[in-house]
Amino acid sequence: MKTYAVSGAASGIGAATAGLLREQGHRVIGIDRTPAEGVEVTADLSTPGGRAEAVTGVRALTDRLHGLVPAAGIAGHTGVDSELVVSVNFFGAQALVAGLRPELAAGAAEGGAGVVFLASNSITGMPGWNAPVAQACLRDDEALARAEAGKVDSVMVYPSTKAALAWWARREGVKPEWAGAGIRLNSVAPGATETPMVEEMRADPVFGPAVDSYPTAIGRTCRPEEVAAAICFLLSEPAASIVGAVLFVDGGTDAMLHPIAPEGWEVGPIEA
Ligand code: NAI
Repeated sequence: MKTYAVSGAASGIGAATAGLLREQGHRVIGIDRTPAEGVEVTADLSTPGGRAEAVTGVRALTDRLHGLVPAAGIAGHTGVDSELVVSVNFFGAQALVAGLRPELAAGAAEGGAGVVFLASNSITGMPGWNAPVAQACLRDDEALARAEAGKVDSVMVYPSTKAALAWWARREGVKPEWAGAGIRLNSVAPGATETPMVEEMRADPVFGPAVDSYPTAIGRTCRPEEVAAAICFLLSEPAASIVGAVLFVDGGTDAMLHPIAPEGWEVGPIEA
């Protein structure tokens, strides 16, 4: 039995991932701002104080983690604060992973540990998203990222935060303190997945119709348990040689839009 922490565990993909890990016999510490069954740590990941509470809360329950899935996130659509999207999606995930690195290192000493970030296929599927936000995230400058985000609509900020997570996992994940310590960082990039978040998007009068406008090769949207299965594979020991990967779980949308390789998420060099 291994011990995992999953944020966003009260709903959707986070709940499905926590459920699958529990089915596999593991212990899961759920983190969410919303109290729910399986959520042991209630914290708001949008603020530094809330993130610190989440780290302290997990630490009070375990001294080791064999994996962490920072799935908590919010969609960008009409009426959503762009700055909040940055703080929850990028900094809420990255700070949790960085804060719990000692516990992940302790878990890794027992045969390896994994982190799987929730990116999104919007990083290659949605043209024109905001690059300065992603660049500021990767410079670990939350104030600047929020300031840049405040200049544009949240729908253009959501993919920025997701690209930044995938890049952060690649840039940092190969370093001695992560892969070198046995902690593998990877990401999944789901397409539209049937969760409350997608229902919320569909209800948007402006962007709602876009949700179902993307082509898929399988003729349907994804199911949360399918994304959870990909996450659990990346966490597992058979995935021990996978580091820095971005696994598209999107029914083929990215492959249909870009048959040779994912395109459209290059923002130029970003120093560490
Ligand atoms: P969801 O809305 O069903 O669940 C998100 C969870 O995050 C909720 O339980 C919510 O309470 C929690 N959360 C939100 N803000 C929080 C905060 N400040 N502090 C703590 N917890 C907070 O969403 P879903 O669809 O399960 O999304 C999970 C992740 O997957 C998100 O990061 C999302 O961006 C990503 N994703 C979802 C896709 C989809 O189509 N559903 C597609 C691509 C990525």
